[in-house]
Amino acid sequence: MLQKIDDTLWIAEDPLRIFGIALGRRMTVIGLPDGGLFVHSPWEMTADRKRRLLDLGPVRSIVAPGRFHDLYLDQALLEFPQAELHAIPSLFGRFASRPNTFPLSDSPPSSWGEAIEQHAFIAGPFHSETVFFHRKSRSLLLTDLCFRLEDRGGMTRLAGGVLGVYQKFSPTRDIRLWTLGERRLLRDSVERVLAWPFTRIIPAHGERIPENGRSAFEAAFRWVW
Ligand SMILES: [Fe+2]
Repeated sequence: MLQKIDDTLWIAEDPLRIFGIALGRRMTVIGLPDGGLFVHSPWEMTADRKRRLLDLGPVRSIVAPGRFHDLYLDQALLEFPQAELHAIPSLFGRFASRPNTFPLSDSPPSSWGEAIEQHAFIAGPFHSETVFFHRKSRSLLLTDLCFRLEDRGGMTRLAGGVLGVYQKFSPTRDIRLWTLGERRLLRDSVERVLAWPFTRIIPAHGERIPENGRSAFEAAFRWVW
């Protein structure tokens, strides 16, 4: 079901295990000033979830913000055929022939620009993600850029430890390697995010950061300077 986090902010969380690692997955929904909904990283659109969304308002925009976050898009688009689809450029091609479909850029479209800011974050050649800042709830929405795993299962501890995200909010360790040649671009992206006055961080995986998110984000990228 949907859980209310703030006035115009809801999440739906599902378990997700990949190779025994408890990543979890999270869909985030933002109510826009005109009553429409912005749906970030939709996962399984169960009948309950669909009903709850319909109760909240018309689904205006469905957002595929990062790689592999298109796995349940077809289902969401089937349930909400009137919605706009906004996808990162690498996913856009798969849906390009669909009407009302747009590639995400570095600035918000008119559909949500009044309420949400965005940045096409640069973190190496293998990472493709647009990050969002919802002004009203002071929330930063991330996909895979940074997260923290807490599950006590052996594989989660082991892999989370190797990746540097076990009980620690951080980008995965490989991002340090992939951005060696473009630290300046990464730094610029980190600064763009830190310019937003967010307090809460909602990643698509792992734990939420309910407060002091800006400090957590700054600490996660301190190595960039
Ligand atoms: Fe992901």
